[in-house]
Amino acid sequence: MRAVVVSEFGAPEVMRVQELPEPQPGPGEVTIDVAYAGVNFAEAKARSVGYRVAALPFVPGLEVSGLVRAVGEGVTGLRPGQPVAATLDGGGYAEVVTASAARTFTLPDGLGLRAAAALPTVLLTAYGLVHDAGRLRSQETVLIHGAAGGVGTVLGQVARLAGAAKVYGVVSQPAKAVYAKDFGYDEVFVGDDWDRQLDAATGGRGVDLALDPVGGGTWQRSLAALARYGRLVSFGNAGGSAPWSAGAAELQGRALSVSAFSILALASEDPRRLRELATASFDLAAAWDVRLPVTAEFPLERAADAHRLIESRNSTGKLLLTVNGG
Ligand SMILES: NC(=O)c1ccc[n+]([C@@H]2O[C@H](COP(=O)([O-])OP(=O)(O)OC[C@H]3O[C@@H](n4cnc5c(N)ncnc54)[C@H](OP(=O)(O)O)[C@@H]3O)[C@@H](O)[C@H]2O)c1
Repeated sequence: MRAVVVSEFGAPEVMRVQELPEPQPGPGEVTIDVAYAGVNFAEAKARSVGYRVAALPFVPGLEVSGLVRAVGEGVTGLRPGQPVAATLDGGGYAEVVTASAARTFTLPDGLGLRAAAALPTVLLTAYGLVHDAGRLRSQETVLIHGAAGGVGTVLGQVARLAGAAKVYGVVSQPAKAVYAKDFGYDEVFVGDDWDRQLDAATGGRGVDLALDPVGGGTWQRSLAALARYGRLVSFGNAGGSAPWSAGAAELQGRALSVSAFSILALASEDPRRLRELATASFDLAAAWDVRLPVTAEFPLERAADAHRLIESRNSTGKLLLTVNGG
């Protein structure tokens, strides 16, 4: 079977398509004939700097949709030919992938394979951020960085469905603000003075919850943009900053809280909660038509172009790799 292999960390062109032996499912696992693989910013980080990569060479890819190919010992509730989506620790940029049965989800009625590939990582992450880590309550206000990206597009909708009074977004370009406004955002700030724009929009009050995938200075300024009892959840380091922190001096005055969330950590440490999150979030998506437009599709051979696009900061919505005639 063909797969995209990274043999050294570096620019997008280090990704090469190679023939690899077809994987077989072990106990508690399934193999999936991949129809589509979602493209995530975390995969670009894995390729460039080894984010959550155990060893070289490796096959990137944290989420796929497709048909169950074979079922390993002890697996119940999944059978060959069934359409599924799965979250993975890697390996998704391939014609066949092995997935833990615990992290493989059958699709609700009406959810096709193309839409399903876009959702496992972003939808579960968005749901976990808003409900579990962010503990958003009805009528609270939210600030979301990277509002027009894959996670950002879904976060606006999930926050709105959770009863947010106002959802504010931050993006780097005006066209992205126009795009994000279709996905649950009341106002979208463009550019580096977003905190001044937020201050004006909230009359100086700030927001109850800020969700930050950028890190470093953006994280520090998001902390300063919180209202009393506000919460700041870090969920990425797109800016590649050195570790950042806050202590009592920054938190005490307004009784602020900081936390962090990782869907990959949850998947490996608490698969049962991941499954509950998947059920709740897929149900929400089906009932309320949570949308994540696929804005570009690439064959496996052009995975590098997909990474160039997501790293360029010019993409909106979701990028997919189209694999087995998906
Ligand atoms: N913790 C978790 O469980 C989890 C799960 C999934 C994703 N994530 C994180 O969520 C973020 C979004 O992931 P995604 O896959 O949906 O990607 P994406 O949002 O489609 O693309 C990445 C976005 O990051 C923003 N960005 C901000 N600073 C950047 C920088 N210095 N370089 C490049 N991009 C920058 C860009 O938006 P602007 O140009 O508008 O700023 C860009 O659109 C990533 O940071 C990712 O690591 C975390």
